[in-house]
Amino acid sequence: MSIAVEDNNKLSRLTNPGPDEQLRAILEGSSFDDYNSPLFIAWQINAACNLGCLHCCEEAGHSMPDEMTKSEALDFCRQIAELNIPYMAISGGEPLLCPYIFDVCEFIRENNISLKIETNGEFIDEKVARRFAELKLRSVQVSLDGATADAHERLRVAGDWKKAIEACEHLVNYGVNTEIVFVPTKFNIHEIGDAIDMAYSMGAYGFYTGKTMRIGRAAKNWDILCPSEEEYEKFFDVLQKKTAAYEGKMKVYYYPYDVIEELKYRLEAPSASLLVVPNGKVKLIGPLPFICGDLKKESLSRIWENYKKAWQNPAVVEFTKKVIADPKLLAESNNWREVNSES
Ligand SMILES: C[S@@+](CC[C@H](N)C(=O)[O-])C[C@H]1O[C@@H](n2cnc3c(N)ncnc32)[C@H](O)[C@@H]1O
Ligand code: SF4
Repeated sequence: MSIAVEDNNKLSRLTNPGPDEQLRAILEGSSFDDYNSPLFIAWQINAACNLGCLHCCEEAGHSMPDEMTKSEALDFCRQIAELNIPYMAISGGEPLLCPYIFDVCEFIRENNISLKIETNGEFIDEKVARRFAELKLRSVQVSLDGATADAHERLRVAGDWKKAIEACEHLVNYGVNTEIVFVPTKFNIHEIGDAIDMAYSMGAYGFYTGKTMRIGRAAKNWDILCPSEEEYEKFFDVLQKKTAAYEGKMKVYYYPYDVIEELKYRLEAPSASLLVVPNGKVKLIGPLPFICGDLKKESLSRIWENYKKAWQNPAVVEFTKKVIADPKLLAESNNWREVNSES
């Protein structure tokens, strides 16, 4: 998530380990206007997924009809290298279902770009873990939404908790920086402490969590998923204690704000990052529906300029304020629309 958190969007604020702290300081301390290119790319390489998670912010499942081809994807990577963008994260859908995932990873790493892969872990056997180790990835982030199979599999429909655990074990055995992401919902929030302990005992490098984003399928299932204030209070209390307990042993990161607080912050300080969806369109930020470019038609550097202007677009500012006032509008986030058609 990417709490990908970072989620993709949050990543620029809190979820970066080690050398990422340097990057984080850059992202937080500087205006995005200062940059001729983004510092970070979050790429949802495909929409196909073997699971149907109740909370999936991408509503992943089936491929989109117009996803980028392998040559378009590699051309995008070439532009990333040309612009000297230092860091990218590849997510999905499930990125290991993308037939050219390793071609992309190899190109990115040959060009010395730091790379993180976000996966549900179900396709990571010994061979895949070894390939990731050879690629010297910055990290592989595995989703683990429970300390028990029951909690994980209730949320991750069709998911197999044991496979996710085995994926972590293979990755750790091959020396890959393994990060665990846990998305809290009513089904699993009480398992947070045990999940952190489990991550440590498996040899994970980091553990990431934060409030679930009310977008995609999570928005549709909000009433059954959203933890109460009281549950969140206990959750953050446990996190605080575990962060202290694991200091110097394993990184425990949590982002205490929800997606609305994130949007308020981003209106003032957009991040120096781009979010690319499987068909090559570029979103302004995950929780908003706006598209500010299309890699099939425009260069990455042109899209970066569009992105910077889009944050000033009155229609974008107005809609974002509406979302802040009425979080139900977050449900629009996957009904993409061009920023230009708003002006
Ligand atoms: C969309 S998934 C794609 C990668 C892969 N399929 C997986 O599940 O890890 C990327 C990350 O976003 C997290 N995520 C999904 N829906 C979320 C939501 N509504 N709020 C916060 N994080 C979410 C997932 O748990 C996962 O860690
Ligand atoms: S969260 Fe990941 S594994 Fe779950 S449905 Fe979405 S893309 Fe698939």
